[in-house]
Amino acid sequence: MAYTQDELKQQVAKAAVEYVKEGIIGVGTGSTANFFIEELAKVKHKIEGAVASSEATAQRLRAHGIEVFDLNNIDGMDIYVDGADEITEHLHMLKGGGGALTREKIVAAVARQFICICDETKYVPTLGKFPLPVEVLPMARSYVARELVKLGGQPALRNFTTDNGNVIIDVHGLNITDPVAMEAKINQIVGVVTNGLFAARPANVLLLATADGVKTYK
Ligand code: 5RP
Repeated sequence: MAYTQDELKQQVAKAAVEYVKEGIIGVGTGSTANFFIEELAKVKHKIEGAVASSEATAQRLRAHGIEVFDLNNIDGMDIYVDGADEITEHLHMLKGGGGALTREKIVAAVARQFICICDETKYVPTLGKFPLPVEVLPMARSYVARELVKLGGQPALRNFTTDNGNVIIDVHGLNITDPVAMEAKINQIVGVVTNGLFAARPANVLLLATADGVKTYK
């Protein structure tokens, strides 16, 4: 049976709720994460609350009556659940299509397990077909763009301001054969806050919605 992309997102969101046990849950940003929030709301009695990776997610969680905690007031969480723009068999991800990459990476760093929820269109052999988002301090945007050209990319400034008051440069045309090295290299450019490669800390579990059901990769 053929499912729509939204149906696949909903199925994978339901599968992710199986990982919700108790305590505080880290919640990502984007349309797949939004489906997860709908499912999380159904089991909200089991949890203490959530940490949000964006203002949009915080608002949505609160609208469902889920308490949102400041990350600084908690000392850990079992799981962080979020989507991705691309993910490989090594569970390296490219994220930030929604511009929330920095807060996503911070919340993910605190979580013991990153549960990535995706539909099968996101599963790729190599990262980089989707333009790589880089969050940059506004005064550094031209300098950073020139440095990104030296790495072989074509930078394009997104018409967007992040929750942290910064800009996003989307880098097209990068051939990302070594995501761990590329993540570190871009982070070393002065003025870069974060880039959307989640390779140094990949996902722990990938729940992938396919036409044949939700598959689990670890
Ligand atoms: C937001 C993200 C999202 O996880 C990513 O863009 C996937 O979004 P969607 O679930 O809407 O396809 O990294 O910054």
